[in-house]
Amino acid sequence: MLSSPQYEQIPYRKCGNSGLYLPAISLGLWHNFGGLVSPVKVDEMLSRAFEMGITHFDLANNYGPPYGSAEEQFGRALKTVFAGRRDELIISSKAGYDMWPGPYGDGGSRKYLISSLNQSLKRMGLEYVDIFYHHRPDEDTPLEESMRALEQIVRSGKALYVGISNYPAQKAREAFRMLKSWGVPVVIHQPKYSMFVRNPEDGLFDVLKEEGIGCIPFSPLAQGLLTNKYIKGIPEGSRIADPKGFLQKEELTEKRLEQIKKLNTIAEKRGQSLAQLALVWVLRRKEVTSALVGISSIKQLEDNLETLKNLELSVAEAADIEEILRMN
Ligand SMILES: NC(=O)c1ccc[n+]([C@@H]2O[C@H](COP(=O)([O-])OP(=O)(O)OC[C@H]3O[C@@H](n4cnc5c(N)ncnc54)[C@H](OP(=O)(O)O)[C@@H]3O)[C@@H](O)[C@H]2O)c1
Repeated sequence: MLSSPQYEQIPYRKCGNSGLYLPAISLGLWHNFGGLVSPVKVDEMLSRAFEMGITHFDLANNYGPPYGSAEEQFGRALKTVFAGRRDELIISSKAGYDMWPGPYGDGGSRKYLISSLNQSLKRMGLEYVDIFYHHRPDEDTPLEESMRALEQIVRSGKALYVGISNYPAQKAREAFRMLKSWGVPVVIHQPKYSMFVRNPEDGLFDVLKEEGIGCIPFSPLAQGLLTNKYIKGIPEGSRIADPKGFLQKEELTEKRLEQIKKLNTIAEKRGQSLAQLALVWVLRRKEVTSALVGISSIKQLEDNLETLKNLELSVAEAADIEEILRMN
């Protein structure tokens, strides 16, 4: 039985200039919520997240494995764990990457985006998602076609807001301006951002600030590198331990490991875990609305949410971190 959410435990931050608030930490279902995971475990992680005040759950058409199964699991949980709570949730989905065979299951065409969202809604048993994203820019489709598809999706009532993900700064600005000129509620960008991946600092954050768009960085823990889990080797069941996984062993270089250890020392001095320090670091940016984390256990979820008890980062700590990140 779901307890009432502890809304007072989590800060909710305004998503750009919109009226939408998101929890400072949101939960993504890319890994560990697909069809190979037991529904009991999925339900436990989702209920704990909601009870601790996480109101935003991020999905995409192809989250699994197999593709589509994270949305199916979430759809099942909506009827059980979250029964009667739809209006307390912000649910997002996306299309843009490979989803089904043939020319209409990938990219940015109107055909793909609209058909894919229809499938996502069916899998989740929903009439609408709160946010629908174009998952990545597609050089092969005119930007206006992809954005017109987002417009149509909002007008048909299948999404309340729209966003874009992985778009570089200038293309993002063009997309925002187009959508705004048609009166479409574009409110958010989802870029990759962490201590180890800092591209949004090279122009994207400026665009988001200028255009009044919110930001929800994904992989803020660099898929687990920015935690203490790899300090003493590669644990069984971790993302690196899966040879077919998205986080490859090669990314854990000697230099990375040295940086991780040094960052961990700073975290310890603050009385935090490295995961917590990594989240504080991402959330220090005014442009960032919410940090979008993944988890494989309730313990990780609780560790991550503990971050919110100390979001202060001193000038000296920030400078020490900068020095570590600039190490050759
Ligand atoms: N828009 C896009 O293109 C895009 C791309 C990728 C992700 N996303 C979204 O962003 C979400 C998050 O991505 P991500 O899963 O890569 O994020 P992440 O938070 O950087 O990494 C999550 C992984 O870090 C480890 N972890 C998390 N908390 C921990 C803790 N406190 N202590 C130790 N280890 C911890 C776990 O690894 P183990 O599993 O090894 O335990 C977990 O699976 C996704 O679910 C998805 O919604 C979007």
